[in-house]
Amino acid sequence: EKDGHDWFMRKEIFEQPRAVADSLLGRRTAEGHLQLDEMRLSDQELRDVDKIIIIACGTSFYAGLVAKYAIEHWCRIPVEVELASEFRYRDPILDYSTLVVAISQSGETADTLQAIRHARAQKSKVLAICNTNGSTIPRESDAVIYTHAGPEIGVASTKGFLTQLVACYLLALYLAQVKGTRFGDEISQVVRQLEAMPSHIESVLASADDVYALAREHVGTRSVLFLGRHAGYPVALEGALKLKELAYLHAEGFAAGELKHGPIALVEQGLPVLCVVPPAGRDQLRDKMVSGIQEVRARGARTICLVEEGDDAITPYADVVLRLPKVPVLLQPLVAVVPLQLFACELATVMGHDVDQPRNLAKSVTVE
Ligand code: F6R
Repeated sequence: EKDGHDWFMRKEIFEQPRAVADSLLGRRTAEGHLQLDEMRLSDQELRDVDKIIIIACGTSFYAGLVAKYAIEHWCRIPVEVELASEFRYRDPILDYSTLVVAISQSGETADTLQAIRHARAQKSKVLAICNTNGSTIPRESDAVIYTHAGPEIGVASTKGFLTQLVACYLLALYLAQVKGTRFGDEISQVVRQLEAMPSHIESVLASADDVYALAREHVGTRSVLFLGRHAGYPVALEGALKLKELAYLHAEGFAAGELKHGPIALVEQGLPVLCVVPPAGRDQLRDKMVSGIQEVRARGARTICLVEEGDDAITPYADVVLRLPKVPVLLQPLVAVVPLQLFACELATVMGHDVDQPRNLAKSVTVE
Protein backbone atom coordinates (compact mmCIF):
# COMPACT_ATOMS: atom_id res chain seq x y z
CA GLU A 1 0.00 0.00 0.00
CA LYS A 2 3.00 2.27 0.53
CA ASP A 3 4.54 1.04 -2.73
CA GLY A 4 7.73 -0.01 -0.99
CA HIS A 5 8.15 3.28 0.88
CA ASP A 6 8.50 3.47 4.66
CA TRP A 7 5.85 6.18 5.01
CA PHE A 8 2.75 7.27 3.18
CA MET A 9 4.24 10.74 3.20
CA ARG A 10 7.29 9.61 1.27
CA LYS A 11 5.12 7.73 -1.20
CA GLU A 12 2.98 10.84 -1.64
CA ILE A 13 6.02 13.05 -2.22
CA PHE A 14 7.07 10.72 -5.03
CA GLU A 15 3.54 10.71 -6.45
CA GLN A 16 3.69 14.44 -7.04
CA PRO A 17 4.63 14.39 -10.75
CA ARG A 18 1.59 12.18 -11.39
CA ALA A 19 -0.66 14.28 -9.14
CA VAL A 20 0.34 17.51 -10.88
CA ALA A 21 -0.19 15.92 -14.31
CA ASP A 22 -3.64 14.65 -13.27
CA SER A 23 -4.63 18.07 -11.98
CA LEU A 24 -3.82 19.52 -15.41
CA LEU A 25 -5.56 16.81 -17.38
CA GLY A 26 -8.42 17.89 -19.62
CA ARG A 27 -8.10 21.58 -18.78
CA ARG A 28 -7.09 22.68 -22.28
CA THR A 29 -9.25 22.51 -25.41
CA ALA A 30 -7.80 21.68 -28.83
CA GLU A 31 -7.86 25.42 -29.60
CA GLY A 32 -5.68 26.08 -26.57
CA HIS A 33 -8.45 27.53 -24.38
CA LEU A 34 -8.66 26.72 -20.72
CA GLN A 35 -11.75 25.00 -19.43
CA LEU A 36 -12.66 24.37 -15.81
CA ASP A 37 -15.51 21.86 -15.89
CA GLU A 38 -16.82 22.16 -12.36
CA MET A 39 -16.61 25.96 -12.40
CA ARG A 40 -20.25 26.76 -11.80
CA LEU A 41 -19.77 30.54 -12.01
CA SER A 42 -20.67 32.18 -15.31
CA ASP A 43 -18.20 34.28 -17.29
CA GLN A 44 -20.29 37.33 -16.45
CA GLU A 45 -20.11 36.57 -12.72
CA LEU A 46 -16.35 36.22 -13.03
CA ARG A 47 -16.02 39.45 -15.01
CA ASP A 48 -17.85 41.25 -12.20
CA VAL A 49 -15.23 40.17 -9.66
CA ASP A 50 -13.21 43.17 -8.52
CA LYS A 51 -11.60 41.69 -5.41
CA ILE A 52 -10.57 38.20 -4.33
CA ILE A 53 -10.14 37.01 -0.77
CA ILE A 54 -8.45 33.67 -0.29
CA ILE A 55 -9.10 31.85 2.98
CA ALA A 56 -7.39 28.69 4.18
CA CYS A 57 -5.37 27.17 7.03
CA GLY A 58 -1.85 25.80 7.34
CA THR A 59 -0.25 24.52 4.17
CA SER A 60 -3.35 25.43 2.15
CA PHE A 61 -2.90 29.02 3.33
CA TYR A 62 0.60 29.01 1.86
CA ALA A 63 -0.83 27.84 -1.48
CA GLY A 64 -3.09 30.89 -1.21
CA LEU A 65 -0.08 33.17 -0.71
CA VAL A 66 1.42 31.86 -3.96
CA ALA A 67 -1.94 32.34 -5.69
CA LYS A 68 -1.91 36.01 -4.76
CA TYR A 69 1.26 36.58 -6.78
CA ALA A 70 -0.15 34.68 -9.77
CA ILE A 71 -3.64 36.23 -9.80
CA GLU A 72 -2.45 39.78 -9.29
CA HIS A 73 0.21 39.42 -11.97
CA TRP A 74 -1.92 37.68 -14.59
CA CYS A 75 -5.35 39.15 -13.86
CA ARG A 76 -4.68 42.51 -12.19
CA ILE A 77 -7.36 41.78 -9.59
CA PRO A 78 -6.44 42.67 -5.99
CA VAL A 79 -6.11 39.61 -3.77
CA GLU A 80 -6.07 39.31 0.01
CA VAL A 81 -5.03 36.08 1.67
CA GLU A 82 -6.28 35.43 5.14
CA LEU A 83 -6.15 32.67 7.69
CA ALA A 84 -9.64 31.21 7.87
CA SER A 85 -9.55 31.31 11.66
CA GLU A 86 -9.02 35.09 11.62
CA PHE A 87 -11.29 36.00 8.73
CA ARG A 88 -14.70 36.20 10.40
CA TYR A 89 -13.51 38.09 13.40
CA ARG A 90 -12.33 41.18 11.62
CA ASP A 91 -15.73 41.96 10.05
CA PRO A 92 -14.37 41.66 6.48
CA ILE A 93 -15.72 43.93 3.76
CA LEU A 94 -17.56 41.66 1.37
CA ASP A 95 -20.22 41.96 -1.31
CA TYR A 96 -21.36 40.30 -4.53
CA SER A 97 -18.30 41.54 -6.44
CA THR A 98 -15.89 39.88 -4.00
CA LEU A 99 -14.94 36.33 -4.89
CA VAL A 100 -13.93 34.28 -1.88
CA VAL A 101 -11.64 31.35 -2.68
CA ALA A 102 -11.47 28.68 0.01
CA ILE A 103 -8.59 26.21 -0.25
CA SER A 104 -8.84 22.93 1.62
CA GLN A 105 -7.36 19.53 0.89
CA SER A 106 -9.76 17.65 3.17
CA GLY A 107 -12.82 19.78 2.55
CA GLU A 108 -13.73 19.40 6.22
CA THR A 109 -11.64 22.03 8.02
CA ALA A 110 -13.98 23.74 10.49
CA ASP A 111 -12.26 27.14 10.43
CA THR A 112 -12.47 27.28 6.64
CA LEU A 113 -16.07 26.08 6.59
CA GLN A 114 -17.15 28.74 9.08
CA ALA A 115 -15.41 31.41 7.01
CA ILE A 116 -17.28 30.23 3.89
CA ARG A 117 -20.61 30.42 5.70
CA HIS A 118 -19.79 33.94 6.83
CA ALA A 119 -18.83 35.04 3.29
CA ARG A 120 -21.96 33.58 1.71
CA ALA A 121 -24.14 35.25 4.33
CA GLN A 122 -22.65 38.55 3.09
CA LYS A 123 -23.60 37.72 -0.53
CA SER A 124 -20.11 36.88 -1.74
CA LYS A 125 -19.61 33.97 -4.14
CA VAL A 126 -17.38 31.22 -2.81
CA LEU A 127 -15.17 29.03 -4.95
CA ALA A 128 -13.63 26.00 -3.26
CA ILE A 129 -10.33 24.43 -4.25
CA CYS A 130 -10.56 20.97 -2.76
CA ASN A 131 -9.14 17.47 -3.05
CA THR A 132 -12.02 15.51 -1.58
CA ASN A 133 -15.08 14.87 -3.72
CA GLY A 134 -18.36 15.32 -1.93
CA SER A 135 -16.82 16.83 1.20
CA THR A 136 -18.56 19.61 3.10
CA ILE A 137 -16.59 22.61 1.81
CA PRO A 138 -17.31 22.09 -1.92
CA ARG A 139 -20.92 21.22 -1.09
CA GLU A 140 -21.37 24.52 0.71
CA SER A 141 -19.60 26.57 -1.99
CA ASP A 142 -20.96 28.14 -5.18
CA ALA A 143 -18.26 26.62 -7.35
CA VAL A 144 -15.37 24.22 -7.06
CA ILE A 145 -12.09 23.31 -8.68
CA TYR A 146 -11.13 19.80 -7.66
CA THR A 147 -7.49 18.94 -7.31
CA HIS A 148 -6.58 15.43 -8.40
CA ALA A 149 -3.96 14.45 -5.85
CA GLY A 150 -5.79 11.24 -4.94
CA PRO A 151 -6.20 10.31 -1.25
CA GLU A 152 -3.58 11.94 0.96
CA ILE A 153 -2.94 9.71 3.97
CA GLY A 154 0.17 11.26 5.55
CA VAL A 155 -0.96 13.93 8.00
CA ALA A 156 1.52 16.44 6.55
CA SER A 157 0.25 17.75 3.24
CA THR A 158 2.56 17.24 0.23
CA LYS A 159 0.86 16.30 -3.03
CA GLY A 160 -2.21 18.09 -1.71
CA PHE A 161 -0.16 21.31 -1.64
CA LEU A 162 1.31 20.91 -5.13
CA THR A 163 -2.07 20.21 -6.67
CA GLN A 164 -3.55 23.20 -4.84
CA LEU A 165 -0.86 25.32 -6.47
CA VAL A 166 -1.83 23.93 -9.86
CA ALA A 167 -5.51 24.71 -9.23
CA CYS A 168 -4.58 28.25 -8.18
CA TYR A 169 -2.56 28.78 -11.37
CA LEU A 170 -5.44 27.42 -13.46
CA LEU A 171 -7.88 29.72 -11.69
CA ALA A 172 -5.61 32.71 -12.28
CA LEU A 173 -5.19 31.86 -15.96
CA TYR A 174 -8.90 31.20 -16.39
CA LEU A 175 -9.78 34.55 -14.86
CA ALA A 176 -7.27 36.22 -17.16
CA GLN A 177 -8.88 34.46 -20.13
CA VAL A 178 -12.42 35.46 -19.12
CA LYS A 179 -11.47 39.02 -18.27
CA GLY A 180 -9.37 39.39 -21.42
CA THR A 181 -6.41 41.04 -19.66
CA ARG A 182 -3.39 42.18 -21.64
CA PHE A 183 -1.71 39.07 -20.44
CA GLY A 184 -4.18 37.00 -22.58
CA ASP A 185 -1.71 36.12 -25.33
CA GLU A 186 0.61 34.42 -22.89
CA ILE A 187 -1.97 32.10 -21.34
CA SER A 188 -1.32 29.16 -23.63
CA GLN A 189 2.42 29.59 -23.12
CA VAL A 190 2.02 29.36 -19.33
CA VAL A 191 -0.24 26.34 -19.69
CA ARG A 192 2.53 24.63 -21.65
CA GLN A 193 5.04 25.59 -18.96
CA LEU A 194 2.70 24.05 -16.39
CA GLU A 195 2.47 20.89 -18.46
CA ALA A 196 6.26 20.61 -18.31
CA MET A 197 6.27 20.73 -14.50
CA PRO A 198 5.76 17.00 -13.82
CA SER A 199 9.06 16.20 -15.53
CA HIS A 200 10.80 19.03 -13.66
CA ILE A 201 9.46 17.63 -10.37
CA GLU A 202 10.77 14.19 -11.42
CA SER A 203 14.21 15.65 -11.88
CA VAL A 204 14.14 17.15 -8.36
CA LEU A 205 13.07 13.79 -6.95
CA ALA A 206 15.95 12.12 -8.78
CA SER A 207 18.34 13.93 -6.40
CA ALA A 208 16.47 12.88 -3.27
CA ASP A 209 19.54 11.06 -1.93
CA ASP A 210 21.52 14.31 -1.74
CA VAL A 211 18.74 15.88 0.31
CA TYR A 212 18.54 12.83 2.57
CA ALA A 213 22.28 12.97 3.23
CA LEU A 214 21.94 16.65 4.10
CA ALA A 215 19.00 15.95 6.40
CA ARG A 216 20.96 13.30 8.28
CA GLU A 217 23.67 15.86 9.00
CA HIS A 218 21.07 17.88 10.88
CA VAL A 219 20.15 15.44 13.61
CA GLY A 220 20.68 17.38 16.82
CA THR A 221 20.02 20.76 15.22
CA ARG A 222 17.75 22.82 17.42
CA SER A 223 16.60 25.50 15.04
CA VAL A 224 16.42 26.08 11.28
CA LEU A 225 15.54 29.26 9.39
CA PHE A 226 14.05 29.43 5.90
CA LEU A 227 14.33 32.47 3.66
CA GLY A 228 12.49 33.29 0.46
CA ARG A 229 11.23 36.19 -1.59
CA HIS A 230 8.21 36.67 -3.85
CA ALA A 231 6.70 33.24 -4.65
CA GLY A 232 9.62 31.71 -2.75
CA TYR A 233 8.46 33.31 0.50
CA PRO A 234 5.46 30.96 0.95
CA VAL A 235 7.83 28.10 0.07
CA ALA A 236 10.04 29.15 3.00
CA LEU A 237 7.00 29.21 5.29
CA GLU A 238 5.96 25.75 4.09
CA GLY A 239 9.47 24.34 4.55
CA ALA A 240 9.46 25.58 8.13
CA LEU A 241 5.99 24.20 8.84
CA LYS A 242 6.99 20.74 7.57
CA LEU A 243 9.99 20.71 9.89
CA LYS A 244 7.93 21.79 12.90
CA GLU A 245 5.25 19.20 12.22
CA LEU A 246 7.49 16.24 11.52
CA ALA A 247 10.81 16.81 13.27
CA TYR A 248 9.39 18.88 16.18
CA LEU A 249 12.09 21.45 15.60
CA HIS A 250 11.98 25.17 15.96
CA ALA A 251 11.81 26.36 12.37
CA GLU A 252 10.78 29.72 10.98
CA GLY A 253 10.28 31.07 7.52
CA PHE A 254 10.96 34.72 6.71
CA ALA A 255 10.71 37.00 3.74
CA ALA A 256 14.40 37.59 3.08
CA GLY A 257 13.90 41.36 3.01
CA GLU A 258 12.65 41.27 6.59
CA LEU A 259 15.90 39.87 7.96
CA LYS A 260 17.39 43.24 8.80
CA HIS A 261 14.17 44.26 10.55
CA GLY A 262 14.70 41.77 13.33
CA PRO A 263 15.21 38.08 12.52
CA ILE A 264 18.90 38.47 11.72
CA ALA A 265 19.44 38.78 15.47
CA LEU A 266 18.68 35.05 15.66
CA VAL A 267 21.64 34.12 13.49
CA GLU A 268 24.54 32.55 15.33
CA GLN A 269 27.46 30.30 14.48
CA GLY A 270 26.36 27.17 12.66
CA LEU A 271 22.65 27.99 12.39
CA PRO A 272 21.28 26.26 9.26
CA VAL A 273 19.52 28.74 6.96
CA LEU A 274 17.70 27.30 3.95
CA CYS A 275 17.43 29.85 1.17
CA VAL A 276 15.03 29.65 -1.77
CA VAL A 277 16.77 31.65 -4.48
CA PRO A 278 14.51 33.20 -7.16
CA PRO A 279 15.29 32.32 -10.80
CA ALA A 280 18.01 34.39 -12.42
CA GLY A 281 15.58 35.90 -14.94
CA ARG A 282 14.26 38.06 -12.09
CA ASP A 283 17.61 39.66 -11.41
CA GLN A 284 16.54 42.31 -8.95
CA LEU A 285 14.87 39.70 -6.80
CA ARG A 286 17.75 37.26 -7.18
CA ASP A 287 20.41 39.87 -6.37
CA LYS A 288 18.58 40.99 -3.24
CA MET A 289 18.36 37.38 -2.14
CA VAL A 290 22.09 36.96 -2.72
CA SER A 291 22.83 39.89 -0.43
CA GLY A 292 20.53 38.43 2.24
CA ILE A 293 22.45 35.18 2.03
CA GLN A 294 25.76 37.04 2.33
CA GLU A 295 24.51 38.82 5.43
CA VAL A 296 23.50 35.68 7.31
CA ARG A 297 26.65 33.88 6.27
CA ALA A 298 28.83 36.73 7.50
CA ARG A 299 27.24 36.13 10.90
CA GLY A 300 28.11 32.46 10.93
CA ALA A 301 25.02 30.83 9.40
CA ARG A 302 25.39 27.63 7.42
CA THR A 303 23.67 28.55 4.15
CA ILE A 304 21.85 25.83 2.23
CA CYS A 305 20.71 27.30 -1.06
CA LEU A 306 18.08 26.08 -3.49
CA VAL A 307 19.27 27.56 -6.77
CA GLU A 308 18.34 27.01 -10.37
CA GLU A 309 20.74 25.17 -12.66
CA GLY A 310 23.37 27.37 -14.20
CA ASP A 311 23.06 30.18 -11.64
CA ASP A 312 26.48 30.44 -10.03
CA ALA A 313 26.18 33.90 -8.47
CA ILE A 314 25.33 32.27 -5.19
CA THR A 315 28.06 29.64 -5.05
CA PRO A 316 30.63 31.73 -3.15
CA TYR A 317 28.13 32.28 -0.32
CA ALA A 318 26.52 28.84 -0.23
CA ASP A 319 27.78 26.13 2.09
CA VAL A 320 25.49 23.69 0.32
CA VAL A 321 23.87 24.06 -3.11
CA LEU A 322 20.78 22.11 -4.10
CA ARG A 323 19.89 22.55 -7.76
CA LEU A 324 16.43 23.31 -9.11
CA PRO A 325 15.34 23.10 -12.75
CA LYS A 326 14.95 26.33 -14.70
CA VAL A 327 11.30 27.38 -14.45
CA PRO A 328 9.43 30.72 -14.38
CA VAL A 329 9.45 32.51 -11.02
CA LEU A 330 5.70 32.13 -10.44
CA LEU A 331 5.87 28.38 -11.00
CA GLN A 332 9.04 27.85 -8.96
CA PRO A 333 7.17 26.80 -5.79
CA LEU A 334 6.17 23.56 -7.57
CA VAL A 335 9.80 22.47 -7.67
CA ALA A 336 11.33 24.40 -4.75
CA VAL A 337 9.11 22.93 -2.06
CA VAL A 338 9.99 19.32 -2.97
CA PRO A 339 13.51 19.23 -1.43
CA LEU A 340 12.08 20.83 1.71
CA GLN A 341 9.47 18.06 1.99
CA LEU A 342 12.18 15.42 1.51
CA PHE A 343 14.39 17.15 4.08
CA ALA A 344 11.69 17.19 6.76
CA CYS A 345 10.58 13.63 6.02
CA GLU A 346 14.11 12.25 6.24
CA LEU A 347 15.16 14.22 9.29
CA ALA A 348 12.03 13.14 11.18
CA THR A 349 12.65 9.54 10.12
CA VAL A 350 16.22 9.44 11.42
CA MET A 351 15.09 11.14 14.62
CA GLY A 352 12.72 8.20 15.09
CA HIS A 353 9.45 10.08 14.76
CA ASP A 354 6.23 8.77 13.27
CA VAL A 355 6.18 10.75 10.05
CA ASP A 356 2.66 9.78 9.01
CA GLN A 357 1.12 10.50 12.40
CA PRO A 358 3.01 13.37 14.02
CA ARG A 359 2.20 13.98 17.67
CA ASN A 360 -0.76 16.22 18.48
CA LEU A 361 -1.90 16.53 14.85
CA ALA A 362 -4.95 15.25 12.97
CA LYS A 363 -5.47 14.95 9.23
CA SER A 364 -8.65 16.94 9.19
CA VAL A 365 -9.30 19.53 11.82
CA THR A 366 -13.04 19.54 12.36
CA VAL A 367 -13.06 21.76 15.44
CA GLU A 368 -12.57 25.53 15.44
C1 F6R B 1 0.30 20.78 7.05
C2 F6R B 1 -1.11 20.42 7.09
C3 F6R B 1 -2.08 21.38 7.67
C4 F6R B 1 -3.26 21.55 6.72
C5 F6R B 1 -4.35 22.42 7.34
C6 F6R B 1 -5.50 22.69 6.37
O1 F6R B 1 1.08 19.76 6.54
O2 F6R B 1 -1.47 19.37 6.62
O3 F6R B 1 -1.48 22.61 7.95
O4 F6R B 1 -2.78 22.11 5.53
O5 F6R B 1 -4.84 21.81 8.49
O6 F6R B 1 -6.12 21.50 5.99
P1 F6R B 1 -7.08 21.45 4.77
O7 F6R B 1 -6.33 21.80 3.55
O8 F6R B 1 -7.60 20.03 4.74
O9 F6R B 1 -8.19 22.44 5.01
